Amino acid sequence: MKNLNIKQLFLKHLAQTSEYPLMLEAESADGIYIYDQSRKSYIDLISGIAVANLGHNHPEIKSAIKKQVDKYTHLMVYGEYIQSIQVEFAKLLTDHLPKMLNTVYFTNSGSEATEGAMKLAKRVTGRKEIIACKNAYHGNTQGAMSLMTGNDYIDQYGPLLPNIKLIEFNNLEHIKQISKSTACIIIEPIQGEAGVVLPQEGYLEALRKRCNQTGTLLIFDEAQTGFGRTGSLFAFEQFGIVPDILLLAKALGGGMPLGAFIASNEMMQSLSNHPALGHITTFGGHPVSCAAGLAHLKLLLKNDKKIIQEVQPKADLFKKLLTSNTIVDLRQKGLMMALELENAEKNHQVIQRCYEEGILTDWFLYADDCLRIAPPLTISEEQIEQVCKTLNAVSS
Ligand SMILES: Cc1ncc(COP(=O)(O)O)c(C=O)c1O
Repeated sequence: MKNLNIKQLFLKHLAQTSEYPLMLEAESADGIYIYDQSRKSYIDLISGIAVANLGHNHPEIKSAIKKQVDKYTHLMVYGEYIQSIQVEFAKLLTDHLPKMLNTVYFTNSGSEATEGAMKLAKRVTGRKEIIACKNAYHGNTQGAMSLMTGNDYIDQYGPLLPNIKLIEFNNLEHIKQISKSTACIIIEPIQGEAGVVLPQEGYLEALRKRCNQTGTLLIFDEAQTGFGRTGSLFAFEQFGIVPDILLLAKALGGGMPLGAFIASNEMMQSLSNHPALGHITTFGGHPVSCAAGLAHLKLLLKNDKKIIQEVQPKADLFKKLLTSNTIVDLRQKGLMMALELENAEKNHQVIQRCYEEGILTDWFLYADDCLRIAPPLTISEEQIEQVCKTLNAVSS
């Protein structure tokens, strides 16, 4: 039988998530660049979807990974042995969070963090109802999918969870639907997959107030907005309110798989009794992922958070330089951006042209007329100039 090439083997042996995968054959990656087999370079303008906040293959993160691999990898299911790297990472994370967010449950992914947080909210409040926002994305397991908008998903994968209510993001009237029966509202402080939708002034504060009145837990999903992406370590810091539970994922692991839900020690205790093992995972908080995540966080905090402080000026530069007359809108919070074009067809054409010109970008789950821009925070001014020049040219 004829030998199949790697592209044919990819299509034959790896499950496909869409009918038209990009099929970039990656050879290596470094900083903001991914290289293919022919050594063509591509600027990763989406950081592997908000993961590589410090770029790819950072030498200090790689060395932390290697050091941990030399000590040990997996030892035991989560939460039994003291693994110093998990402890050190949880301590550093919570040192940079408000006092009540002091206990970390590490998971493998963002979806799993969503599941854990939903369970924790039900357990702590004794209530069954969960509220989320339309056009939100919190993951793809069946519990997290229950929070998604879109009949296609429900038709094809239902039944999903009962007792879920979806309200409109930024609608102050809808906040009234949060009641004393609501265990939690789970929300992205800035909606990612809706195409970077920012909260209107006062909206998140009103949400916090309503949750206080009804005894509902406020859960912020910062899987995309975390780790400097919006110009502060976490986006919620810019809105002056504190959630009861914080979800982290994506950049949390410094390029390795990791998620977390973080709450008060008092709340987290409830997962350990009546019944014990209220939430369990084999690989959650894998020591190698924690080593990478810890190194990544230390780098972000270095020199008084220099890299994070440079996010806003870089975001301003994008805004100044993106001048094509086909741009309908540019929504941004720091280096989390959605470039709205005339329609989805135009957007897909621009994404394809970017690819040909060596720039990797994407659309959004609920906004296919918007082009995703979420580069590594380390992107230089010259690189931003180069990207904007190309984006202007291919979209005009
Ligand atoms: C806001 C948000 N929450 C949760 C998730 C799910 O994370 P994961 O893909 O790691 O399960 C994502 C992934 O895109 C996300 O953007």
